[in-house]
Amino acid sequence: MFETSDTSGLTGAGSGAAAFVGDIRQPRGASNAFERDLVAGLSVKPRRVAPKYFYDAAGSALFDRICELPEYYPTRTEFAILERNARAIAECIGPRADIVEFGAGSLSKIRRLLDAFEPAHAPRRFFPIDISADHLEGAARRLHADYPWLHVHPVGADYMQEGALGDLEAASERRVGFFPGSTIGNLDPDEARGFLRRAAHLLQGGGLLIGVDLVKDPDVLHRAYNDRQGVTAAFNLNLLRRANEELGADFELSRFAHYAFYEPRRQRIEMHLVSRCAQTVRLGRHAFAFDQGESIHTENSHKFTIEGFRALAVSTGFEPGPVWTDEARLFSVHWLASPPARASR
Ligand code: AVI
Repeated sequence: MFETSDTSGLTGAGSGAAAFVGDIRQPRGASNAFERDLVAGLSVKPRRVAPKYFYDAAGSALFDRICELPEYYPTRTEFAILERNARAIAECIGPRADIVEFGAGSLSKIRRLLDAFEPAHAPRRFFPIDISADHLEGAARRLHADYPWLHVHPVGADYMQEGALGDLEAASERRVGFFPGSTIGNLDPDEARGFLRRAAHLLQGGGLLIGVDLVKDPDVLHRAYNDRQGVTAAFNLNLLRRANEELGADFELSRFAHYAFYEPRRQRIEMHLVSRCAQTVRLGRHAFAFDQGESIHTENSHKFTIEGFRALAVSTGFEPGPVWTDEARLFSVHWLASPPARASR
């Protein structure tokens, strides 16, 4: 079980002066969980590791570089959509909301939304939640410095874990989720459904603003995950570097190749690390033999149609509202309302 850091600040945020509730730590047990999951994932065939383990400090910094790459269209396209439609989006969010950002990262997109509000209607509190606690804390401090009127409560936790958001449910009146970047696409279909169901429950009476990458020309997709500078390759291989550094594994990085391709039947990019030769890797008391060409499956990045995503949202308890997209229909941003709970009789 991946333990969360102390989330008690969620209830402690009252209506007084805006505060920064910091001092978050890397979630307790994080490196145990990494070791346990890595050993389990290397012990099955085909081998796999969950993409959440990309995001140590170095991986988060590499991901920030990916977002700037000319080939990686999602970030700048989503930014442009948020910027162009910020007023309409602010209307959906409504006045004085509490915003929870899932998998928050560097907190650049929330700024676009905050800038769109009249001061009297601006969000009250902001709860960015991210597994990479150190990266998040720095970003949250910078955000609070630039928006001193906003309560900022970073939470170092895995948002997929039940209870990661503590007592937020009891603590706020209008809750809005923000899940940009199409991170939903990194979840398996069952996980995505489970996450959306939990979000619909948490956000009752409010809603979820979510960025969703769209099905498109496979060449465009292929380039986005095989950039010329090799940043995505370094991001993928960083997982092995992290295992060496944190767990004492002996992966030889030059013996693994980054391999990413679009799988049209499942409408997803798959990322793998492929062994360039026959080799054995040690991790604690375990030894893992790789054949030449054998892979570790490190990430899926699912792409959606607008209709398909709306149907998924309906099936998890949301009422889909407006969808904003760019002219080339590369990316979409959806407002999903979560109806208030019916009073029980
Ligand atoms: C975070 N996530 C939405 C990215 C994606 O596009 O699936 C992660 C990523 N992997 C390789 N490049 C970017």
